[in-house]
This record gives sequence, C-alpha cells and structure tokens, in this order.
Amino acid sequence: MTRNHLITEKLQIRYPIVQAPMLGVTTPEMVAAIANEGGLGSLPVGGLSPEKTTELIRKTKQLTSYPFAVNLFAHTIPDITIAEAQQMQEYLSELGRKNGLEFPAQSIEKLVFYSYKSQIDILIAEQIPIVSFTFGIPDDESLLKLKANGILLIGTATCLEEALILDKKNIDIITAQGIEAGGHRGTFLDTIPLPQVSVMALVPQIVGRINKPVLASGAINDGNTIRAALAMGASGVQIGTAFIASSESMAIPTYKQAVLNAKDTDSTLTRTFSGRWARGLQNQFMSALDHSGLTPLPYPIQNSLTTPLRQVAQQHNNNNFTNMWSGQSAPKIQLPDCAAIFRELVRQTEIKNT
Ligand SMILES: Cc1cc2nc3c(=O)[nH]c(=O)nc-3n(C[C@H](O)[C@H](O)[C@H](O)COP(=O)(O)O)c2cc1C
Repeated sequence: MTRNHLITEKLQIRYPIVQAPMLGVTTPEMVAAIANEGGLGSLPVGGLSPEKTTELIRKTKQLTSYPFAVNLFAHTIPDITIAEAQQMQEYLSELGRKNGLEFPAQSIEKLVFYSYKSQIDILIAEQIPIVSFTFGIPDDESLLKLKANGILLIGTATCLEEALILDKKNIDIITAQGIEAGGHRGTFLDTIPLPQVSVMALVPQIVGRINKPVLASGAINDGNTIRAALAMGASGVQIGTAFIASSESMAIPTYKQAVLNAKDTDSTLTRTFSGRWARGLQNQFMSALDHSGLTPLPYPIQNSLTTPLRQVAQQHNNNNFTNMWSGQSAPKIQLPDCAAIFRELVRQTEIKNT
C-alpha cells in the first residue's frame, strides 16, 4: 500500500493514522508517543478550563517537537433546572452510599461549564496547527479566527447530512464516526433520531459526495481494518479503543482489563453518565440509572453531576460506577505502550513511507 499523500501532507505526518482524542483517557504522553512515531496525536481538552487547556498543551509540547491536534467540544450550554439537578444529585449520592462510594454534595448553583469559546485564543497563542472538534461546529467568529491563523480544521460527522454541513462551513477534513465507535457520539443534528450509521455505510457515502479527506473512525484496530477503511475511500483512520489499555492511558486498571476482555456485544449506547449518547461497556451504574425512573439531564449538566461518583469509583479502581467508553472492537494488538501498538498497526498495514 502506498502512502496516502492527501492526508499525510495536510497533517504533516508520516502515516495516515490519527490517535483519537479521548477525554479522561488520553494523556500528553499518549499524544507525544503517537506524534513521535509519525502519526497524528490528538490532545482532548473538551470542556476543560482555559488554565488546564494551556497546561496540557504545554506539557505535550515538552514531550514532542512534532505537530499534534487539539480537540474541542463544540456544543452549546443549556440552562440548568436546579430542582431536577438536585433530584439527580440526591439519587447519585444515595447510589454511591449504598455501594461504599460516598462523596460530598456539590453546590448545583456553583457548577461551572466552560465553552470552547474560551479556548480559541489559547490555541492560536500556542500556535496549534490542527484543531479537531466534535458535538457541533464552532461558531463563525471562532472558525474565522482559527482559519485566519492558518489552523487546519477537522470536524466530526455521524451521518452524511452532518458531513455536508461541515463541508459547507469549509472544514478541511471530516472524521466519519461510525456507530461502532467508542465514547460520545459526535452527533450535532437534533432534528433527526440519533444517527446509527456504520463505518462501512458512512465512509463511502461521505467520500462519494465530498471532495475532502475523510478519516474513518470506529472499530479500527489492526492492519486489516485500516486497509479496509482506505479501500472504502478514507484518506486515513482515527483510532481510539485500541490505545485505552496502553501504559500512557489514564484508564484505571479494571477499565483497561475490561476493555481488553470485551466481546463484540459488551458495549452499548447510554446517556446515563453525561446526558449525551456515548458507547461504553455495560456496567452497574448504567443499569441502575436506567431502572431508576429518572431521566439523565442534558449534557454537560448530567456529566458534571456524575463526576464526583465517577471520581470516587476511580479512586477505588471500581469500574462499575465510572464510564468505560469503548468501541465494538476490543484492542487486537495487546502491546504495552502506544509506540509499540502504533508500530504494529503500521507494520500490519504495510504502509510504505515513500
Ligand atoms: C475513551 C474514549 C473517549 C473519547 N473521547 C473523545 C473526545 O474527547 N473527543 C472526540 O472527538 N472523540 C472522542 N472519542 C471518540 C473517538 O474520537 C473515536 O471516534 C472512537 O474512539 C473511534 O472508535 P474506536 O474506539 O472503536 O476506535 C472517545 C472515544 C473513547 C473510546
């Protein structure tokens, strides 16, 4: 297979493989390891404070001199209904208490939700060359600023209609996120039922309509699946789950183990943890909330309300009360670190760096 010039030249990388941004799992060490191996590392900063965003970018820069992408969440922030949030918080603290995971109540009125808008100037000041985003499209003012600074933009689509909207907004590269993908759905059209299109259906339909590089994302975990994506017309791939169990990952040990052992049917779509649909391994928390009679609050409110329970569960290495985002295909290459996994992906794909 020959090198895919379209994407590698645009992204200044050697191989058309992007490490998916994975908030809560990806570390600067992971991003740097992939960048140093010739792939595109992606640093997730969705919903983080401006201070934390700067800190993570600077840490990553210390570990690699290669370019990397920074990933934003481009959603709007809904109004919070205090009474509903209080009811959810009471349910969650009771659930935690019953399961030996106590945590102090948060003051709902004091919850802070950061917008991507407060991160745009930081990305420009830090001279980030590539910005990817999910959950929507940054507003026109932000897009103009990013473009005026020569920043390459990668947007996420979960159906053809979303890809066409990204194309119209002059987004440079489109990530086609199939229903197999681990983590949150990037879906941003709420006028239709949640798109549940597979990578195999989505990639050729986007490639057939849009004359821009497309990254296939979802269930790609070895040379065969990378080659399959390229054969369908993708210019590259974006891979997440395959890196969750690596030494550079922030995942707790029981989450890593569960991902490594996961069968094709072990993951499901849930709104219980964050209020947005996401694919993760089924666990006690998801079943409990599904049967509680309560409805998860909109993202990111539900996400903030479940954070203390998830944090205390993680401290106890308890994977039953924290999210275990994972795709439908478990990691196939079981090597200890990201560099080794990445090299094996390249070797299996036989990408020639011509
Ligand atoms: C643990 C985890 C966290 C994720 N977090 C993000 C994120 O912060 N931003 C984003 O654009 N996509 C995120 N995703 C989705 C990935 O970008 C990608 O679509 C997905 O990992 C591809 O499917 P795979 O996991 O089967 O490789 C996440 C995925 C996982 C597994």
